[in-house]
Amino acid sequence: MLSDAFGREVTDLRISVTKRCNFGCVYCHDEGLGPVDRPRTLHGEELTPLEVERLVRVAREFGIRSVKFTGGEPLVRLDLEEIVGRTVEQVPDVSLTTNGSMLEARAEGLRDAGLKRVNVSVDSVDPEQFRAIRKGSLAPVLRGIREALRVGLKPVKLNMVVFRQTVANIPRMIEYVGETDGLKLQLIQFMPELVDHREWMVDIDAVKRWLESHASRVLVREMHHRKVFLFRQAEVELVDPVYNAEFCANCHRIRVTHKGELKGCLNRNDDLVPTRGLDDEGLREAFRRVITTRVPYYGGYVLDYPRRLPTAGAPSERLPVLGP
Ligand code: 5AD
Ligand code: SF4
Repeated sequence: MLSDAFGREVTDLRISVTKRCNFGCVYCHDEGLGPVDRPRTLHGEELTPLEVERLVRVAREFGIRSVKFTGGEPLVRLDLEEIVGRTVEQVPDVSLTTNGSMLEARAEGLRDAGLKRVNVSVDSVDPEQFRAIRKGSLAPVLRGIREALRVGLKPVKLNMVVFRQTVANIPRMIEYVGETDGLKLQLIQFMPELVDHREWMVDIDAVKRWLESHASRVLVREMHHRKVFLFRQAEVELVDPVYNAEFCANCHRIRVTHKGELKGCLNRNDDLVPTRGLDDEGLREAFRRVITTRVPYYGGYVLDYPRRLPTAGAPSERLPVLGP
């Protein structure tokens, strides 16, 4: 097990298998690497299944206990089942973050390959609003979610980015998740840095207060010290990393870019450690380097960051529009 200079153990690996995506979400930060590429663009630089397997094998020596695949959209890779299969041989806890649009046809094969869980991005269950935000269709995503549940990829977490365009959907999304067994809702604070739209931020502490006062129970998870809000039928988590020093102090995750560079922090691109062409010993050295140089972004690297509220707008404009 390796810890960084701030005592944070690294236990969790997030691997981007592609920078390509068939959606075009207005908020997309593409894992901190700028705009996604279209599905048919060249993909020669993407990691091969064998390269992923080797990275995970070495990562396991350093105490990595879970792997999550991400993108772009991981399902644009037709060999994702093979990638998952090779990965679970090394680390059994393997999950996937997907836009869900191509999940229906692949959920069963992914489960057979050893995938444990999926996160599916759903910011709205209104087809028109969904299209406006994601530049894609809602219906196949909902079918993909149903199929994932049917084949036992449980729980399915719905990722909802909370920003100006979606904050009013929160009650409806809680209701939606409560209607189906096996669904959970993950509210993700909109991260403005990598997309350059600070004015889309909403007062996330007001959202938190709304959840606290409306939930029937509140629990705290170990990972990032996240709170879990229990509504009658629904489990809701709030992920609020922006300007949050405590969030970064509890971050146990490192990333791998689609080109195989190790990345110590979502918000930074000046700490990438290339791994292509390295032998096992070189790869170990790369892991040591990325872990020893990682710093908590908020509260360590960016010392002078704004407080939790967006700058623009009068206070009343910043408050989320949520019902009683
Ligand atoms: N802020 C917060 N979350 C984001 N995601 C993408 N861009 C942003 C952003 N700017 C989330 C989406 C998706 C996951 C891969 O990243 O919810 O589910
Ligand atoms: Fe970005 Fe994911 Fe949306 Fe694709 S689906 S544009 S990768 S947030």
